[in-house]
Amino acid sequence: MCGIVVAIAQQNIVPVLLEGLRKLEYRGYDSAGLAVIRTQEGPSLERLRSVGRVAELAAQADDLQAQLGIAHTRWATHGIPSERNAHPHISDQLAVVHNGIIENYEILRERLQGEGYTFVSDTDTEAIAHLLHSHLKRGQDFVGAVRATVSELVGAYAIGVISEHEPDTAIVARSGSPLVVGISPNGNFAASDTSALLQVTREVMYLENGDIAVLTRNNVRVLRADGQSVQRPVSTSQLSADAVELGQYRHYMQKEIFEQPRALGDTLAMLGGAHSISPQLFGADAQRVLSETQRVLIIACGTSWHAGMVARYWIEEIAGISCSVEIASEYRYRRSVAEPGTLVVVISQSGETADTLAALKHAKSLGLNLSLAICNVPESAIVRESELRFITRAGPEIGVASTKAFTTQLAALALLALSIGKVKGKLSPEAEKDALDSLRHLPVAIAKVLELEPAIAQWAQGFAMKQHALFLGRGMHYPIALEGALKLKEISYIHAEAYPAGELKHGPLALVDKDMPVIAVAPNDALLEKLKSNLQEVRARGGELFVFADQGFEIPESDGLHILRMPENYGLLSPVLHVVPLQLLSYHAALVKGTDVDKPRNLAKSVTVE
Ligand code: G6P
Repeated sequence: MCGIVVAIAQQNIVPVLLEGLRKLEYRGYDSAGLAVIRTQEGPSLERLRSVGRVAELAAQADDLQAQLGIAHTRWATHGIPSERNAHPHISDQLAVVHNGIIENYEILRERLQGEGYTFVSDTDTEAIAHLLHSHLKRGQDFVGAVRATVSELVGAYAIGVISEHEPDTAIVARSGSPLVVGISPNGNFAASDTSALLQVTREVMYLENGDIAVLTRNNVRVLRADGQSVQRPVSTSQLSADAVELGQYRHYMQKEIFEQPRALGDTLAMLGGAHSISPQLFGADAQRVLSETQRVLIIACGTSWHAGMVARYWIEEIAGISCSVEIASEYRYRRSVAEPGTLVVVISQSGETADTLAALKHAKSLGLNLSLAICNVPESAIVRESELRFITRAGPEIGVASTKAFTTQLAALALLALSIGKVKGKLSPEAEKDALDSLRHLPVAIAKVLELEPAIAQWAQGFAMKQHALFLGRGMHYPIALEGALKLKEISYIHAEAYPAGELKHGPLALVDKDMPVIAVAPNDALLEKLKSNLQEVRARGGELFVFADQGFEIPESDGLHILRMPENYGLLSPVLHVVPLQLLSYHAALVKGTDVDKPRNLAKSVTVE
């Protein structure tokens, strides 16, 4: 996770770059850097970098003056924090800053090395700089070269580019990572979020995926991925200097649903380019703790408990040790058997949930001393109380209904299952590689799922009129059905229940009629044929079915049977993808009903009382 700032103006922009970086330091502070084009004696590119906070960079930049520049604050992904790896990265006379992860950077790097480029850093970003240079060398103009470059990038990026040959232009582009353009009479700017721009303007323009914006001192031109010029709306930011911005979204929940590719990318960024899993992701002592682990006990509340339920399938399947999952408020008051060798895993977005914290202390009082916290808040009580920790990088979650915290918890738990599997010698090198590839591809895969939003919003129209809904799933998708039902309850106040589909005939089938929509999570796995039979049981009783299927689900749509197909089949990690349409469904049902989406009645974000 990194922050970028771009500025072109009539006056000196160095203070603007530095102040922008200060605002973005929450996105990482492993190193900071900037590059400017000075024009005093003909255009010349100058770069400053520092392994440290923005304050150190500012000290170096004391005398620097320029009207065009880019800047970056880094949270290390590819390559250690060092000056060599700090942005901007340079190829000849051009400089690039980047936020995101380029998945195909190794292929690009090899190709560019073959063309004679020398790499001096370990970053994925340097490949962008040389790729851009290679397109310019082939005779493309500046904008054409940026277009050609981004068309070859796989993954997520927000970039800012300047060149000595173009002293009157900065180019920015984005896909997957955020980027907002700031417009003012004195110049034009861009940054990873609005907070970095408020110092110069409140007039902001949010770029869409695939957009390229060409910034000059008095103009901003936006091109879509296909090269067509496009107008993006300019809005006046109402952001107070220290609030978490809502951006172009109506609600924080919607924003947080759409932030999931970024949140997952950031959470998984600590894998860097590694070809194997390192248990150290969970702390310096993780190798010892995991080798002493004979079984896992997961404790959590609410959505975090659902994440734990998915993890049980992964831990038992991948690591081959038993795993139980407990609701914290139940566990803390139950007389349970404390078996030695139990790793207690507490999952909490806030790290302050009273029941979860108390349950962890209770487990320790029973002598269970191997503990791990999976949490979104680094300094929280639950993290401080645990031996090992994994901090998810979802960023602040404001909407009470948890979304991005859940999917990042799942990513952390998948890494945990793989790490235990590795320590126990249960993970083949092929399985390890496949799992890492799938994890790294998750941000891109989720971005594709988000494109289903318009179709889901249409489904939600009919849903919002219902009083009840039933969610079905099987295997590791049963907790996803539970999570879908919880989301619908929380924000649309529609009564919803979830069942493992095989249990339908043991009771809930009695409820099924035309007024009870049934939502099925139907991945293309070993249980698909069984699930299809369960769905027939619903159809035979006149129930209306809404199915989230994978590619290869062959029943055609018909009256009372609605199907949306997920863009990709995702194997073991499929729950991470399948929860996303359920989040969107409840969000849009709540919109139709006009409820207070971000602050549903009677609930709270962080429950610090019992
Ligand atoms: C509250 C929130 C839920 C959350 C649960 C557990 O009920 O409304 O969204 O899942 O607490 O919170 P935690 O911070 O421990 O994950």
